[in-house]
Amino acid sequence: MSPSKQIESPDGRVGVLLVGLGAVATTFVAGVESIRRGLAKPIGSVSQMQTIRLGKRTDAREPRIRDFVPLADLDQLVFGAWDPIPDDAYESAAKASVLSSSDLEPIADFMKSVRPMPAVFDQRYVRRLAGENVKQGANKRELAEQLREDIRRFREDNACDRLVMIWCASTEVYMREGPAHESLDAFEKAMEANDDAIAPSMLYAYAAIMEGVPYANGAPNLNVDIAALRELAQDRGVPVAGKDFKTGQTLMKTIIAPGLKARLLGLSGWFSTNILGNRDGEVLDDPESFRTKEESKLSVLEYILQPSLYPQLYEDFYHKVRINYYPPRKDNKEGWDNLDIFGWLGYPMQIKIDFLCRDSILAAPLVLDLILFLDLAQRAGMHGIQEWLSFYFKSPMTLPSLYPEHDLFIQLMKLKNTLRFLKGEEQITHLGLDYYD
Ligand SMILES: NC(=O)c1ccc[n+]([C@@H]2O[C@H](COP(=O)([O-])OP(=O)(O)OC[C@H]3O[C@@H](n4cnc5c(N)ncnc54)[C@H](O)[C@@H]3O)[C@@H](O)[C@H]2O)c1
Repeated sequence: MSPSKQIESPDGRVGVLLVGLGAVATTFVAGVESIRRGLAKPIGSVSQMQTIRLGKRTDAREPRIRDFVPLADLDQLVFGAWDPIPDDAYESAAKASVLSSSDLEPIADFMKSVRPMPAVFDQRYVRRLAGENVKQGANKRELAEQLREDIRRFREDNACDRLVMIWCASTEVYMREGPAHESLDAFEKAMEANDDAIAPSMLYAYAAIMEGVPYANGAPNLNVDIAALRELAQDRGVPVAGKDFKTGQTLMKTIIAPGLKARLLGLSGWFSTNILGNRDGEVLDDPESFRTKEESKLSVLEYILQPSLYPQLYEDFYHKVRINYYPPRKDNKEGWDNLDIFGWLGYPMQIKIDFLCRDSILAAPLVLDLILFLDLAQRAGMHGIQEWLSFYFKSPMTLPSLYPEHDLFIQLMKLKNTLRFLKGEEQITHLGLDYYD
């Protein structure tokens, strides 16, 4: 065993700043409040339910993660949000209709108390959305300063000891990293010049890092992954993570593809299509927002299957992803996958998946874990990109010189080994030869 890292106490109030108070954010807040009142269980949350093996298999040490590392308790969380739509969390959750009224009504008072602050919003970056709860400012830098004031005010009004911010807002249009994103100096000048290269999401990330607040991006748009903000986070000692919550179809892909590769089954094509009818689906109906999502969804197979190492199995496999906006489905997405695979002597086979899932139900526990783990990371003195949180994302953030790890099982091992490392416990290698000595 190596010495445990110095980790500050988790005591105190933790402010959770949600950018976007839509389906995912309200399902998360409602879930936390229901759990706090003993009305629900934290199903799907690694931080709350998963155990971690310590030492040898014969040691019988398998504590829950929450009992192993010092995490904030759900009772310590206080919620704040920004949204261009002025609905409080109750109204927004009712409109999103993820939760039934039998779950929402018992916590209605609490949900009504979470009201969004005016947002930094510009329709050019999210075209299918309009809202009047929006900040005005002479330029983007001034808007970022207003966000920083909001953060400070929230901290003070709610007597928070620490804060975490998470982007749960709509997917912005497709953007590429350019000169305005290369350095902090270029970024700040671009904010002052109202450069189009600076999206609203980047102003939130900038404000969070400047205020020393850990930040995660749950959507696929270009954001805290630009060089200027990555470096700012590193320099200021702020943990950041992203991007695009790994739920639904991509979750399935990163469970199944490692299995195919492990058994050396070839892939000639993987066709994925979805129907969904929530606001997210409406935003993604815009080709520019979909392009952002498409890039995030397409990359996972390439990285997991490694066609350059296994050309006979994975070279030129055809991969297509479609999202279709279909209002009657609301948040209850249906994702179909057809996989054309091949085995011994090249004989073809097919796998069909029909996943009737609930997007926000899958995303909410990820929001909770990210908040608690980012808060832990900050107290443990970790800063910059938190690659050990790849488990939660479709497009995990890494240093540009590294490729992301997409395999869900490797990601989970990485997460648990990071927790073992923080506590000075041995890494689990699964070698196990010593049992037979
Ligand atoms: N639910 C999932 O499974 C899942 C998975 C991966 C990623 N995501 C992403 O998470 C995000 C949230 O999903 P959702 O279903 O809650 O969407 P939603 O449309 O219900 O909520 C998004 C909210 O963000 C607000 N918003 C837009 N621009 C904003 C801005 N500049 N500042 C503040 N608020 C802003 C919108 O008004 C809306 O209320 C989307 O980007 C989605 O692509 C969701």
